[in-house]
Amino acid sequence: MFLSFTYPLCPFSDIVYIHIPGKILNTYILCYQGSTVFILSVRNVPYDWIINKKSNQHWLRKEGDKFFFPGGGTMFPNGVNSYVKLMQKLIPGMKNGIIRTAIDTGCGVASLGGDLLDHGILTVSLAPRDNHEAQVQFALERGIPAILGIISTQRLPFPSNSFDMAHCSRCLIPWTEHDGIYLLEIHRILRPGGFWVLSGPPINYEHRWRGWNTTVEEQKSDYDKLKKLLTSMCFKFYNKKDDIADPDSAWYTPLQPCLTIPSQKFKKLGLNFVPKWPNRLHSRWKVRVKHYKALLPAFGSDEIRNVMDMNTLYGGFATALIDSPLWVMNVVSSYGPNSLGVVYDRGLIGTYHDWCEPFSTYPRTYDLLHLDGLFTAESHRCEMKYVLLEMDRILRPNGYALIRESYYFIDAIATIAKGMRWDCEKQGTEYIMSKEKLLACQKKLWHANQTQDSGNDL
Ligand SMILES: C[S@@+](CC[C@H](N)C(=O)[O-])C[C@H]1O[C@@H](n2cnc3c(N)ncnc32)[C@H](O)[C@@H]1O
Repeated sequence: MFLSFTYPLCPFSDIVYIHIPGKILNTYILCYQGSTVFILSVRNVPYDWIINKKSNQHWLRKEGDKFFFPGGGTMFPNGVNSYVKLMQKLIPGMKNGIIRTAIDTGCGVASLGGDLLDHGILTVSLAPRDNHEAQVQFALERGIPAILGIISTQRLPFPSNSFDMAHCSRCLIPWTEHDGIYLLEIHRILRPGGFWVLSGPPINYEHRWRGWNTTVEEQKSDYDKLKKLLTSMCFKFYNKKDDIADPDSAWYTPLQPCLTIPSQKFKKLGLNFVPKWPNRLHSRWKVRVKHYKALLPAFGSDEIRNVMDMNTLYGGFATALIDSPLWVMNVVSSYGPNSLGVVYDRGLIGTYHDWCEPFSTYPRTYDLLHLDGLFTAESHRCEMKYVLLEMDRILRPNGYALIRESYYFIDAIATIAKGMRWDCEKQGTEYIMSKEKLLACQKKLWHANQTQDSGNDL
């Protein structure tokens, strides 16, 4: 059962109204077998809480030393495949390239994000580290784009008008609480004309309330509240003269109980205005990436799947890699020029981050880290060794780091990398004359022996 709705671009005038024609589509989900089976080693993510607690929902199962992912979930216990087919019927833009980027809030083990990837929809699967322990880690381990995160008191680390679609299937986010502040955050990050899809309580409560540990009255009241809330967002008076906060500010920015209205400057960011995928993309980075692939033969093969561009501006690196069997998390500095919106406009995904802090992911979750000029730009803000240690934490053993910096920094980085037991080689860039150098590194797989202290003073 879905509630899906969209809202068109606001008419741009001094007084702006947003209209969300709520269309409630009560449809039964046909559940049948059909999703791809993914396998991974139990030792990589040794948590089985979900199996014990949610065995009937088929999120994953354990056989010997392997985990299998049959594509299940709370709202699609028999496979996400039929669920996605139903979504496609409700939202035809999912099939013809109109919808390219999505966010799945409360993603579980990212069965949906994995399936959407097969349909050319790049989805950020988002969930916290809660009693489910390692749901995002499972996703990343399987090569599905995912990030640790929670809808709570701070804005999500994405600019306004980014995602073509947002989804929640029984994601336990109390959408109607606190005057709808969580829904306003979805509204902020959703592109005008984009879709919000909700399944689970209170949708179709008339038939489903018995399974939800509440009374039919409670569910009805929740449903009515949700409708009222959505309606209240449909027609919202906006006085242009009012002082409004920057809607793209999303790094340690508290949630705000106000509607994000697109600026008049950006008339073409609506879903119906952006070119269909893959026409959103064009690349000037081809020469550079060709050079990188020559330096790292594994790059471009299926050995490398989860890639992070640690300080991108417009996602050029990811763009040049679009035909490789990998996905790229584009990280835009939270204190530099705010270009993450452009990354999303190009049909790519990414997040804000300050590299003086740990990144929201589990250890050993990325296969390749690309870093271009981060130290040159930011070494005055925090010590380089901490950034490199964080890179070591998130890099998979035998994973790679490609570091492009000025001569001055490359030698210092090489010394620290050696201390972390990385194998590094200094290389030239794709230009014969260049003020920059490349450091191509591989993190080694090593274990502390029993007498050795695991702490290594750099
Ligand atoms: C019942 S599970 C549903 C998982 C998945 N959507 C499915 O249908 O299988 C609830 C999910 O919501 C996540 N969650 C709960 N509260 C959240 C919040 N405030 N923000 C983001 N995710 C949340 C949980 O970690 C979990 O992944």
